[in-house]
Amino acid sequence: MTAQPDLDRLIPRARTGSVKWEYREGAVGHGSTLVPAEDPDVIPMWVADMDFPCPEVVVEAIRKRAEHPIFGYSMGLPSYREAFCDWVAARHGFRPDPDWVVPTEGIVPDLGLLVRTFLEPGQGVILHPPVYFPFFGAVRNNGARMHLCPLRREDGPDVDGPNPYRLDLERFEKLAAERGTRMTFLCTPQNPVGRVWTPGELTAFAGIAARHGLIVVADEIHGDLMLDGRRFTPWLSLDHRLGLRSVVCSAPSKTFNLAGLKSSCLVIPDEEMRAAYRHARDHTGVYGVNPLSAAAAEAAWRGGGPWLDRVLAYLSENARTLQRFFSERPELKVGTVPVEATYLAWLDFRRTGIAAEALEDFLLDKARLRLENGAIFGEEGRGFARMNLACPRPLLTEALGRLETALSSTE
Ligand SMILES: Cc1ncc(COP(=O)(O)O)c(C=O)c1O
Repeated sequence: MTAQPDLDRLIPRARTGSVKWEYREGAVGHGSTLVPAEDPDVIPMWVADMDFPCPEVVVEAIRKRAEHPIFGYSMGLPSYREAFCDWVAARHGFRPDPDWVVPTEGIVPDLGLLVRTFLEPGQGVILHPPVYFPFFGAVRNNGARMHLCPLRREDGPDVDGPNPYRLDLERFEKLAAERGTRMTFLCTPQNPVGRVWTPGELTAFAGIAARHGLIVVADEIHGDLMLDGRRFTPWLSLDHRLGLRSVVCSAPSKTFNLAGLKSSCLVIPDEEMRAAYRHARDHTGVYGVNPLSAAAAEAAWRGGGPWLDRVLAYLSENARTLQRFFSERPELKVGTVPVEATYLAWLDFRRTGIAAEALEDFLLDKARLRLENGAIFGEEGRGFARMNLACPRPLLTEALGRLETALSSTE
């Protein structure tokens, strides 16, 4: 048996080209420019990748493939699709058909391509913010109209209560009924608020989409990252029964920390839709897969389960550490919501007295932390920040300590 890595140990990532550790946003808007980050003292907890080594089976598979010294154009192997479908079946109890699976280099470029493929210019896409920020660009930059259906909060009296975020199904139905509304993006589980949608919520959402003929793009990239043993409901396990038109976005990248390998996939059950997407993709000139990435993905799906179970237990404890930290220090006035899935915590600074516009600089200059500014996830995220918890616990503890010191000296 391979020795398990020590997740408490920080592996330096300097000089690996890491976006999270070696770069920061430039001045010209989010995502458009990255410039080298000059200050090595800042703890980076922004970009969503993990500071843990990926499963050893993945490294071995890349090594093995590299022993064949020809890296010509590749379409991957049929076993890639089988491995993905077997993984989803074993993990979540629903097996997609391997024919539905289309490997791609990344979900983000695909979101825009899906809009261009299935919408006429000016038709509408419904988004549910606060949400993963590239959703906005995928709609705006591809000629579609954006309809916002913000998540609602149902906060109970208990500060340590359940995750309060809910889909606004009433507003969703109204927007879905408008002429020209054609598509919705659903982030499931939700980034940044960490909610796992229940089968009931998903069924109600699917019912509305079916009634109004919407195409649902269900982004399940965080679907394997269920904390504290929660169950994930794959969108297609519902869609299948309702005869919906859906595209599911998936990848081994978040699950096994392989984002740099650029190996994602779309699952498109409807044959005509799949053909339309492939056609649109041909027009971009992109085809084929990176053979090292395909080998890595397949190995992860086939043999990464025990690694993932261990990482999920560690992440669940990191999430509890964060929750405990703030509930034991109410004087800091930082609100949290339980992280049900993903490794991203959604922190509410609105009661701290720090202006939303000043929050990012405060965190950087006073706490020496680079978090993701909540405002990039939509207007609803102003005054919030997203903290990436996929790091060794000693680093998390250090970050929380820095935050406490900085917040305690703001009076
Ligand atoms: C919801 C969601 N979708 C997609 C991505 C990125 O996907 P890809 O790297 O395949 O473009 C992320 C990364 O954080 C994400 O959180």
